[in-house]
Amino acid sequence: MQTSWIPFVPPSASTLSGKVDALYFYVSGVTVFFVLLISLVLAFFVIKYRRRSPYEIPRPIAGSHKLETLWSVIPFVIAMSMFAWGAQLYFQMYRPPQNAAEIYVVGKQWMWKIQHSTGQREINELHVPVGRKIKLIMTAEDTIHDFFVPAFRMKADVLPGRYTTQWFEATTPGTYHLFCAEYCGMNHSGMIGSIIVMQPSEFDNWLSGNAAQQSPAVAGQQLFQSLGCVSCHGANGEGGRGPALVGLFGRKVFLTNGQTIIADEAYVRESIENPQAKLVSGFGPIMPTFQGQVTPEQLIQIMSFIKSLQVTNQPPTSTPPAGVAAPPVAAATATPSPNRQ
Ligand code: CUA
Repeated sequence: MQTSWIPFVPPSASTLSGKVDALYFYVSGVTVFFVLLISLVLAFFVIKYRRRSPYEIPRPIAGSHKLETLWSVIPFVIAMSMFAWGAQLYFQMYRPPQNAAEIYVVGKQWMWKIQHSTGQREINELHVPVGRKIKLIMTAEDTIHDFFVPAFRMKADVLPGRYTTQWFEATTPGTYHLFCAEYCGMNHSGMIGSIIVMQPSEFDNWLSGNAAQQSPAVAGQQLFQSLGCVSCHGANGEGGRGPALVGLFGRKVFLTNGQTIIADEAYVRESIENPQAKLVSGFGPIMPTFQGQVTPEQLIQIMSFIKSLQVTNQPPTSTPPAGVAAPPVAAATATPSPNRQ
């Protein structure tokens, strides 16, 4: 494991970790400075203005507007500098870049299950290349966990029934701690793992050396068939009695209640588990619920398949196994339905 030269400070190994440290040291520095300033001035005044005789009556003091303005404005400016700096960094951390590679994370008591978009699975280990932006799409099977990598200064809750994301770009090859940072039951403290950052060429070797299981998108396509989604959404997601799914992900959807919504992970999941919640304009409430019939991992696979149905992109990269319909190339030109703009 990598360590840092400052005691108690974890190694710094992502593009954002140095920025987080800079802000942290700034806030700590300002705090230490004012603690010292105030306590020293306090000690000095306590001694200088101590009561010298039991009959002493202090001189009355008239307030000073100048002084009061000064000690209001200076702290205000300092506090706002922390806010502005912090907010700017927060937005950088919580807005994953568009071109980031997606990796799926499922937390369960008590392990981290990870799957690369090429199909490789890992447990309690995550191999990533240096210098590439990685976006984690995370959910949990049972209770709240928290994916925490101190060396990358990143930490986010992983919740059942929801998707949270965080992203990073590792800067230094090495092995780093992964912790669960939310008490999740008896073996919470054992829910740990490693992030292994490799040179891109080494990583490509690792990737090719690990037999890729089916990519999540291909597995999702099979589920799409076996769960009977095809009968309404079309064999290739081109739509029919149900809305078309081609090009759906990330696009605006018009709902029967007049609202518009962006088709993100949360929306897709809700539409599978509780289809009546947000009906697409022009479609009736005919879809049954799949709550309890698909595991969180299967949901991720279906989501991956739906994401792969982009109008311009290629469908799933791995070859679909025999018996599965050909990749939905023709579907890209399917007749527009009301949920496409
Ligand atoms: Cu999972 Cu604590």
